[in-house]
Amino acid sequence: MSDSHGTSGEDWADARGALWLAELDSYEQMLELLGIALLDRAALENGQHVADIGCGGGRTSRLAAHLVAPEGSVQGVDIAPMLMAEATRRAEAEGLRNLRFSTGDAASFVPEGAPFDRLLSRLGIMFFADPAAAFANLRRLLKDGGQADFAVWAAPQDNVWMSGARAIVAEHIELPVADPLAPGPFALADPDRFASLLRDAGFSQVDMQAWYGPIRVGGTGSDAAKAAEFSLRAFSFATVLVGAEAGLEEAIREKVIAFFRQFETPDGVQVPGKAWLVRAMA
Ligand SMILES: C[S@@+](CC[C@H](N)C(=O)[O-])C[C@H]1O[C@@H](n2cnc3c(N)ncnc32)[C@H](O)[C@@H]1O
Repeated sequence: MSDSHGTSGEDWADARGALWLAELDSYEQMLELLGIALLDRAALENGQHVADIGCGGGRTSRLAAHLVAPEGSVQGVDIAPMLMAEATRRAEAEGLRNLRFSTGDAASFVPEGAPFDRLLSRLGIMFFADPAAAFANLRRLLKDGGQADFAVWAAPQDNVWMSGARAIVAEHIELPVADPLAPGPFALADPDRFASLLRDAGFSQVDMQAWYGPIRVGGTGSDAAKAAEFSLRAFSFATVLVGAEAGLEEAIREKVIAFFRQFETPDGVQVPGKAWLVRAMA
């Protein structure tokens, strides 16, 4: 099920996963700095066995595989089979021998190699229909004393790279009211709620750090037109534009281009974003 902010695991296994695959390079460039911040904070070491949850095309998994080599390994898990096929292809092309991918719903799936020393996730854990059950499963994937490092988006108003374009669309087409707790990119934006979920699932020493950084909408070096085109094609709320009359779509596009123009820099569009880097111990 999907609304203007919401995206569930089922969506990812199907149309949403296919769209992420079609836009994979742009998405991964957009999220690169957040991934680096996550890995810096995780400080992985040679010999550790890591699971990357909701790993998508596997960029973070590949970086992690280098960090734990030669003796450690990474197991990427994702609900979208087409993303696991592409992640496998990319890891093989890079010659990585300590990285595997499995298709599964992280809410219940137990991948080969569990329990792990470490769990990682860049934005792959906000889509669970039953977060309490899902985090209990993630806890079981960690050895006692193991560490989880997650990155999740902060509130929509702190992430205008998405909410700005959404607000423009909403001026013209009625969007469903976004349920802040429904599965979707902002489902874990409330740090107190997220910390409670983790504690109830058996994690301890929950530590949250705010991350602020530029979001390169449309990928590295994009301009306002490219950022607008990307957001109206790739963000989940944009599905309401399918079938819209051409004049309306054009009017929205022009406004979204104007919105992104204020964030153009010599290095491309860079819109301020905020995420939470969350560490928890098992
Ligand atoms: C926003 S994307 C992030 C992908 C990747 N971590 C990255 O940063 O490039 C969210 C990912 O979570 C995956 N996902 C969503 N629900 C899931 C679930 N229940 N179990 C496993 N993966 C899930 C999606 O298929 C998608 O690849």
